[in-house]
Amino acid sequence: MSVFTADTGHEQVVFCSDQASGLRAIIAIYSTALGPALGGTRFYPYASEADAIHDALDLSKGMAYKNALAGLDHGGGKAVIWGDPRTDKTEPLLRAYGRFVESLNGRYYTACDVGTYVADMDVIARESRFVTGRSPEHGGAGDSSVLTAYGVFQGMRAAASYRWGVDTLAGKRVGIAGVGKVGRHLVEHLLDDGAAVVIADVNTAAVEAIQAKHAQVEAVAPDALVVTPMDVYAPCALGGALDDETVPVLQAEIVCGAANNQLAHAGMDKDVADRGILYAPDYVVNSGGVIQVADEIEGFVFDRAKHRATGIYDTTLQILRLADDEGVTPAVAADRLAERRMADVGRLRTIHLPR
Ligand SMILES: NC(=O)c1ccc[n+]([C@@H]2O[C@H](COP(=O)([O-])OP(=O)(O)OC[C@H]3O[C@@H](n4cnc5c(N)ncnc54)[C@H](O)[C@@H]3O)[C@@H](O)[C@H]2O)c1
Repeated sequence: MSVFTADTGHEQVVFCSDQASGLRAIIAIYSTALGPALGGTRFYPYASEADAIHDALDLSKGMAYKNALAGLDHGGGKAVIWGDPRTDKTEPLLRAYGRFVESLNGRYYTACDVGTYVADMDVIARESRFVTGRSPEHGGAGDSSVLTAYGVFQGMRAAASYRWGVDTLAGKRVGIAGVGKVGRHLVEHLLDDGAAVVIADVNTAAVEAIQAKHAQVEAVAPDALVVTPMDVYAPCALGGALDDETVPVLQAEIVCGAANNQLAHAGMDKDVADRGILYAPDYVVNSGGVIQVADEIEGFVFDRAKHRATGIYDTTLQILRLADDEGVTPAVAADRLAERRMADVGRLRTIHLPR
């Protein structure tokens, strides 16, 4: 597929090159219907330029949908820097990238993603005003996993309410795949709520750290979690957790977790539904992080951001009910709701305002 001929629906795709610093980046803006595009910068050693372009296009579209359902006044964008962050990340490269972000004059706000950290945002911000997800020393909100986990917990309560008629996980068994930054905070919310928790992680130190604090948390091998009897499965590691191998054997009534892109391929949502499993769409329940960085643009207020992340409960419930009403899977219902907000609110820009 060529980006020049494919109708991807993007508003703007910017190729950024600075030979001296080695910068090769692509900034993709899917939509500014709801406001300036917002989405992180991924620094990744793609196998090819085409792979980098595809990732930027896919991720920016995903951000438009996520931001729309998070109720933000932001469209969707994402950038990728093509290179190895361990060897290619230098001050001149990040600052060159920052100048390209600045050149868009606020159509795109950047933040952290895979391969970039708050310290990198501070460097990029030396060249651009349109950077969020910064360090606390620079007015940033810090670690976004706190509100991401809180939001996932709200989504899980909503799914429980829809499925079992009670908005608590008390007495239920929840399996968490991946107890990194988000997963470990989710453990705390679930234990506080009275759930039994079983965890799995390829990093045994992460598992041990949780069990040292909470002896009642069980652990199983990563491959064993999906076949472990549980009420809720929470993928909090990598994408593609729901695939042709896991879905047929999954022992859970609800899937609700933080990982991005949990459905391994198109149609997977239907396979999940056919097994009677309720899927809370990933990009809806994991939007606490982007809610945090969006709040930071205004000057971070934790309680205000937390209040907005609490809204993930209502949005998740609305989507599950819409899926029922319209006879579609929750993943399709989420997309429809996002598209409606982008169309209905985006349309308001046609009401002329004098400048
Ligand atoms: N951090 C955020 O604010 C945020 C926001 C939205 C979405 N997410 C998504 O949530 C997921 C978790 O994010 P994080 O910040 O906690 O990442 P992290 O890297 O801190 O944690 C991921 C954990 O998963 C473990 N893991 C990797 N492969 C595994 C496997 N096959 N089985 C079990 N465990 C495995 C890792 O060892 C690690 O402990 C990611 O998919 C991320 O994209 C994170």
